[in-house]
Order: sequence, then structure tokens, then C-alpha cells
Amino acid sequence: MDASAETIPEKLLGWYDAHHRSLPWRSPPGALPPDPYRVWLSEVMLQQTTTAAVAPYFAKFLARWPTVAALAAADEGDVKAAWAGLGYYARARNLIACAKAVAARGGDFPDSEAELRKLPGLGAYTAAAVAAIAFGERAAVVDANVERVITRLNAIAIPLPQARTQILGKVDAITPADRPGDFAQAMMDLGATVCTPRAPRCLLCPLSDHCAGRSLGPEKFPVKLAKAAKPQRSGQAFWIEQDDQVWLTRRANTGMLGGMRALPDDGWSARGDGDAQAPLDGDWTPAGSVRHGFTHFDLDLQLMVYSGADCSRLDPQQGEWWALGRLDEAGLPTLFAKAARLVTAGAATGRTIGD
Ligand code: ADE
Repeated sequence: MDASAETIPEKLLGWYDAHHRSLPWRSPPGALPPDPYRVWLSEVMLQQTTTAAVAPYFAKFLARWPTVAALAAADEGDVKAAWAGLGYYARARNLIACAKAVAARGGDFPDSEAELRKLPGLGAYTAAAVAAIAFGERAAVVDANVERVITRLNAIAIPLPQARTQILGKVDAITPADRPGDFAQAMMDLGATVCTPRAPRCLLCPLSDHCAGRSLGPEKFPVKLAKAAKPQRSGQAFWIEQDDQVWLTRRANTGMLGGMRALPDDGWSARGDGDAQAPLDGDWTPAGSVRHGFTHFDLDLQLMVYSGADCSRLDPQQGEWWALGRLDEAGLPTLFAKAARLVTAGAATGRTIGD
């Protein structure tokens, strides 16, 4: 172990000054913090999502809704459509709820972890991240990258998720009062670029002299319980086309893909394998299927195309006709965008599109 006088936070911050990632939502190391709105928006988007996937969405949201007040006043359907493709759609719902609450208190985010935590739709991770990065409050910020760094550094052999309390304590113990936001992001960058899940670059690591896991084989950490195989579900979605338009619905606000525009389907998300009726009686032709991985199951969605002529029984309360030429503006979640591609790309019947 290290006998030098420099502490873990000092070493990590020195490494961050030289090796930080430049990301659009960040201030450079040591600079004034970014606008809390930018920090909050990016942290919500970055949950379970890579920086590469988030960057274009972050730019699009900021251009369209430059302040939290603008976001709070936006049409909710527009916000959900703009979120389409980013996944984990409950986040869009929570984003809107939180923006409205911040706008209602005058448009300023509260500046402490405890007060941030009271906002609707803002969880423990986001409260800590915004407090540290936007307001310079000493808060323990733990995402999956940080979990990996900490379990290795301390050779924590308790599997996730039980190890979470211990991990939080270890992060708290090394988080400095000075530059806590840079420290949090330094931990994330270390996890993303050096202390990687496979083949960590221990030779480049500023903390290697402190690392209990290094000699034991860092890739053993974090210990994970064996995962049960993901259940398979199947369902059908329905394609009804007329005059170069397709019939789209909006999903219920709660539940999977809540509030998103969608193709009508057989209810696969509510009951497992779907059993709801097709929206029209008549002839339906299979057009292939789409595989899509959700967190808790994999879905095989078969697309059925309406080949009848009478659409008069479609209920205008339940959906809308959408021009095929503007389908990319509908804000379809990836699952349904893939299903639409089966038809619009002129695919041969029977094709499967995977993840
Ligand atoms: N993941 C979550 N928050 C992040 C941040 N601020 N920078 C980089 N990756 C992140």
C-alpha cells in the first residue's frame, strides 16, 4: 500500500485535471459549476445510458427547452416524443414532474441534496449528483462506474445489490469537501476509462497503490449474483395503413413506455403474452417480427398488417392517422420504430429485426 502523503481524493483530482473527459454538460475541472438545469438534465439522461447516446439528446433538449421553466411549460407529448429512442421512459415522466415543481418554486433548483431529494421524480442518485456537481455540496455520488471502482479499491466481496450501503459509506469517506463535483465525475471517468469492466488498465490507474482488489484480480469485483435467464414474452402489434398514413395510438401514462406514441398492440406489456383484440375485424397478414430487450424480459413482437379496406370503425378517441412521410417525427419508442421499419423499408414478409 501507498506510503506517500497524497490522499485518494488528491490523487484522483490530479488525474482528473489531466485526463477528464470533455462532455457537453460539464465545466472544465476547477471551473465554476455549470447551470443546475444542465446538470440535472444530463444526470437524468445518463442513468442507464451511455454518454455517447445521451449527447445528441442533451443538445436537442437544451436547444428546444433552454430553461427548466421552458421545459415545465412544454407540451408533455412533445417532451416524450423528443425522449423517444433514449429508453427507460419513466424518466421522461419524472423529468416533466420535476421541471414543473422547480418552475412552481420560481425556476431555481434547491441547492442541497436534502432539498433536491424532496422534488418529485428526483431520486437519491440524482439529488447527490446535482448537489455535488452544480452546487459544490459534499455528497456521495454512486453510479455503476463508481460501484465498480469502490468494490475493487476495497475488495468488497459482498455481492451487489447488498453491498450498496457499504459502497455508499466508502464513497462518503473519501469524498472531499473541496471540489466534490469534480471528485464525483473523476470517479465516473476512472470507471469508464481505466477501471473498466473487462481488462482494467491498472498500470494507468492513479489509485493502484491503494487498491486492495488489484492483486486479487480486479475483474472479480463487483461480485454479482448469478442472473436468472431473462423471461421471454411474445406479442403482436398492428399496422393499419390508409392514404399514406398509419394509425398510431398513445400508450397509457403509467406502465411500460408510458405516454409514448405507439402502434396498437395486443397488450403484451400488461399481461405478459398479449391477449387483447386486434383494433379491427378482418384480414391480418404477418409482416415479420421484432426482437427487443427490456430490463426484465425479452420481447418477440410480431407485426400484423391490416389487409381489409374498412377503417371506419377505428375510434378517434383511441388514436390518430399519422403521415408515413413524417413517421420519424412521431416519437415512437425504439421497439415500435423497428416494427414500422419492417413495413416502411419494404422488407420481405417474415423478416426479423433484432436488438
Ligand atoms: N454518468 C452519470 N453522470 C455522469 C457525468 N456527470 N459524467 C459522465 N458520466 C456520467
